[in-house]
Amino acid sequence: MPLLYDPFLLMGELRGLRRLRGEVVGQAHGRVLELGAGTGLNMKYYSGVERLVLSEPEPAMAKRLEQRLKHSALSGEVVSAPAEQLPFDDGSFDTVVATMVFCTVSDPHAALHETRRVLARGGRLLFIEHVRGDAGSRLERWQDRFYRPWRAFAYGCRCNQSTLELIGEAGLRTTEVRSARWRGMPPLVDPIVYGKAETI
Ligand SMILES: C[S@@+](CC[C@H](N)C(=O)[O-])C[C@H]1O[C@@H](n2cnc3c(N)ncnc32)[C@H](O)[C@@H]1O
Repeated sequence: MPLLYDPFLLMGELRGLRRLRGEVVGQAHGRVLELGAGTGLNMKYYSGVERLVLSEPEPAMAKRLEQRLKHSALSGEVVSAPAEQLPFDDGSFDTVVATMVFCTVSDPHAALHETRRVLARGGRLLFIEHVRGDAGSRLERWQDRFYRPWRAFAYGCRCNQSTLELIGEAGLRTTEVRSARWRGMPPLVDPIVYGKAETI
């Protein structure tokens, strides 16, 4: 997966995701935890953070992440942990970053509750996620129809998930949400939401 991941995303990165990453991840401050950091495509957008922890449970991805971190100017640490069970005390981070992660974690409810738990009071979740198409739309029907094959192809990714609702259900309040299209990627993952959510 780590070998294929960056080439597979390349068109999507060039056609807009890279800009969104900069916009969203560039707002991270203080003690920062990134969930499911993958191959480290967000890494170059961190600047001036107090502490940076990149979590990634897949060993091959974590290895690629370590290499990228080593060759960057950042100081940080890679921690092998699933988002559903974070090895950190309550309130230990000011920012949690998650990009295209809640669609893939096995249990997004648990991952979002953990996110809330490890955020300090007033801490923020910064997110970019592809989501379910509009209710009643043709895209929504296609997402439901192709849910299984897409999931098998895309390493567990759920293309029809309503992630914004899940964020709210976990007790996080979205304070800024924008919509975009993930151009250069298959239409099933085209609708994107990005923004911020705070602990209530
Ligand atoms: C679509 S990739 C996104 C990677 C990266 N965040 C990005 O924006 O390019 C999903 C990532 O979630 C990771 N992942 C899978 N299950 C996870 C879990 N339970 N907890 C945290 N991350 C997980 C995968 O290994 C993969 O790196």
